[in-house]
Amino acid sequence: MSFDSSTFTVPTSFENHLPRRIRFGRGLSGELTAELKRMEKSRPFIVTDRGVKAAGLLARVTGPLAAAGITFAVYDETEPEPHFACVTAANAVARAAGGDWDVVVALGGGSVMDTAKLVAATLRDGRDAVALAGIGKVGRRSLPLVCVPTTAGTGSEATPVAIFTDATSGGKVGVVDPCLVPDTVLLDPALTDGLPPLPTAAAGMDALVHALEAYIAKCATPLARGLVLEAAGRIGPALPAVCANGGDQAARDAMLIGANLAGLAFANSSCCGVHALALPLGGQFHIAHGVVTGGLVAETMRHNLPSCTADLQTFAAALGWSDTTPAHLPDQLAALATQIGLLKALRSVTVPDSALAGLARSAVANRRLMDPNPRPITEDDAVEIYRRTLYAHG
Ligand SMILES: [Fe+2]
Repeated sequence: MSFDSSTFTVPTSFENHLPRRIRFGRGLSGELTAELKRMEKSRPFIVTDRGVKAAGLLARVTGPLAAAGITFAVYDETEPEPHFACVTAANAVARAAGGDWDVVVALGGGSVMDTAKLVAATLRDGRDAVALAGIGKVGRRSLPLVCVPTTAGTGSEATPVAIFTDATSGGKVGVVDPCLVPDTVLLDPALTDGLPPLPTAAAGMDALVHALEAYIAKCATPLARGLVLEAAGRIGPALPAVCANGGDQAARDAMLIGANLAGLAFANSSCCGVHALALPLGGQFHIAHGVVTGGLVAETMRHNLPSCTADLQTFAAALGWSDTTPAHLPDQLAALATQIGLLKALRSVTVPDSALAGLARSAVANRRLMDPNPRPITEDDAVEIYRRTLYAHG
């Protein structure tokens, strides 16, 4: 009997990159001291932001460090959707605080973790972060990196990707290199308990989009496709639950695990059309990343449907949705984005029709994300997806 290769795509070659160590547990962020000891590191430089600090989450990490007599320094000025200047500013704070830091700790969401990735790559050798934009330009990371996410969504703690806002164009730029994959990840869902409803929904829907795009991307590795099914099994039921009741700790737990699995998946596959379309729109109009990806996913999948019908059916089943008819998936995604407030948030931003051609041009030019998309997206297609998403079928 011969092997039926129509059932599974068998790639001719692939690589997988994963963090060395991933731990999960409520309260785990208080165990950073022991984790650093295990790594034989004793001088952490912590990258975070003001929101994390104001929410009292930084103190949960630094309190035990101080009690253990560990010297640390903190950069807490990471901006949302950061510019490369954030990396420079963080490095300056680290040097002014005495230098000789032997590990970088990221405590925050995607913006913080992305900034910390480049701090860990440039603090010791002083390279200009702007020059590292693109694929495979980093080459080395001289400091180990521990990521402690405070949102369930970006998956940045699992990936070789850091996204920055370009100071000149205002668009988003990716820095992609296997050496950016963090060494150690501490998943503590207690850190996500207090996240307000809209950021919870945006981050959660972004995780769902990561899982979906990692599954349908043409470059998906077998490992990535397996991870997606586990991710979807958690995100499917937990996302509406956590949006309906932010105090549902079991749903918070499931979302953090699901988002991490989705991050591991797209780190070993790719995001594709939704993210290509989302980056210029979010960058130019300063809209939170998950609001944009969560808003765009339905119409992008309506476009992709003819090229990934079976995968969409499998994905809907993995989410636990009772209706797995592929043609219904776009409407179901739109209904979910509406239910959890993302489409309303996206449509509250004024994006003039005259801006769409430029956005479409930028999106289609992003070959890193467009090439893996299962169906080609032309500039005309992109304008149509933007219109249908932003103007309610206008
Ligand atoms: Fe994303």
